[in-house]
Amino acid sequence: MQVLATILFVLSGIGFILGLRMLGRAETARKGNLVSAAGMGSAVLGTLLVILDERRGMAIEGAANASSEALLYVAGGLLVGVLVGIPAARLVKMTSMPEMVAIFNGFGGAASLLVGWGTFQRASTSHRAARSAIDAVEGSPVSVEVSSSLTSWLGALGGGEGHFIAATIFLAILIGGVTFTGSLIAFGKLSGFIPTRPVLYKGQNFVNGLLLLIIVGAGVLLVMNPEESWVLPACIGLSFVLGVAAVIPIGGGDMPVVISLLNSYSGLAACAAGFATNNLLLIIVGALVGASGIILTRIMCLAMNRSLTNVLFSGFGSVTTQAAGEKGEQKEARSMGPGEAYYVLEAASSVLIVPGYGMAVAQAQHAVKELADRLEANGCEVKFAVHPVAGRMPGHMNVLLAEANVPYEQLAEIDDVNPSMETVDVALVIGANDVVNPDAKNEPSSPLYGMPIVEVDRARNVFILKRSLRSGFAGVENPLFFLENATMIFGDAKATIEALVGEFKSD
Ligand code: TAP
Repeated sequence: MQVLATILFVLSGIGFILGLRMLGRAETARKGNLVSAAGMGSAVLGTLLVILDERRGMAIEGAANASSEALLYVAGGLLVGVLVGIPAARLVKMTSMPEMVAIFNGFGGAASLLVGWGTFQRASTSHRAARSAIDAVEGSPVSVEVSSSLTSWLGALGGGEGHFIAATIFLAILIGGVTFTGSLIAFGKLSGFIPTRPVLYKGQNFVNGLLLLIIVGAGVLLVMNPEESWVLPACIGLSFVLGVAAVIPIGGGDMPVVISLLNSYSGLAACAAGFATNNLLLIIVGALVGASGIILTRIMCLAMNRSLTNVLFSGFGSVTTQAAGEKGEQKEARSMGPGEAYYVLEAASSVLIVPGYGMAVAQAQHAVKELADRLEANGCEVKFAVHPVAGRMPGHMNVLLAEANVPYEQLAEIDDVNPSMETVDVALVIGANDVVNPDAKNEPSSPLYGMPIVEVDRARNVFILKRSLRSGFAGVENPLFFLENATMIFGDAKATIEALVGEFKSD
């Protein structure tokens, strides 16, 4: 049975690695999810086999009870997971995906914390049992002294260096605890249960740094003197406080980056729990999650042209920035209705659609797909330029466009479309703002400066579909609206697109 379990664990590891790779491309992402889920199934099955095998061994020694209890826990956990997971995944709205990922990360962190805590308790219990046995047999205070030494205490954890195992238990508890409460705060901010604005106070970074130092101090104490009964609960409590303290200064709009970082933390916590319990699969999976989370975090930061330190510590979004047209000189933006815009689109031979957060708010993706079909049927070449941080979560636009069945071949990245922008007849900007702001190229004082953008300002015509001249996520004015080749089409994106489709239909 052990051999079969090992094979299942290896298959599980392969499943996770392949699944992760397939998730990297839109065409294979769906399959990647299934392959990863199969990997997880294989891991659970392998764990059940290990327990059954232990049970067989114990039955011989007449101590099968403890093992059947463990079997019950695994089966119970599996049942609860399935009962909660399936409806949650089916019912969640696409726009609420970040909240769901946040809460799942939190559970991941809590699970690692519990594994660390459980491992610690098991060692502590078996140590106490061993000590009273020695006491009873020898009754000598010296033997008690020897048995309570650090190495013997941690030796009860089974294999490996005592200090190392205690340190990994501490890390699983610290990172798991921070991930748990940090993710709950992220969930609360995204779903509106708590205010989304950054909560800032003077000396915040100093207080957080001090808190971290105190926890690390407690960790050192835990490793050096694991029998001190107050240290472990103190580590757990402090890690919970640190999780809250680290996430409250971050604005709601930056939450996707934080969630990706917490995702990476949950992997690291699992990795530490894997070392603590000597579980190779947990180490592999934890490392995969930890690494992919940090890579995604970096990609998002680069695409927003912000450093991770800026996201975590600057309280971005706490200063209310002025809407375009409210500061400095008043500028005039040209506007037209869908009826007039139709004539330009009808004559266009190439249209570049740039979707943004407003398309998600308006849920305009199906109407956009219909408009793209009408344009193509009219002999026009249509492409979608997808900016990596358009919207509010990684892959936000890809998900919405896939939901509307926009073919992958029509999607293009910034580098694919920018070089030939001058040949585009109409750039149709749908609810996007920051990702097309020319200040990102031209204005060194802009917070967006350096962020790669879709350079629609160089297209022959730019139609911007939004409700007003108000700013986007970064809260900065957009000079694009006032360029000679730009025209605003004010209104809800879905209503405007439907009106354009209506014009094509009635033609
Ligand atoms: P934004 O710059 O946020 O602009 C969205 C625009 O949509 C707004 O200016 C708004 O203008 C318009 N809008 C809202 N509802 C609308 C509706 N119903 N119909 C039409 N328009 C509507 O969006 P973006 O260009 O996609 O840029 C994304 C921003 O979010 C970037 O700054 C990025 O750094 C940030 N961010 C992204 C992520 C990820 S991972 N995607 C994570 C964190 C932060 P009106 O109010 O005038 O309509």
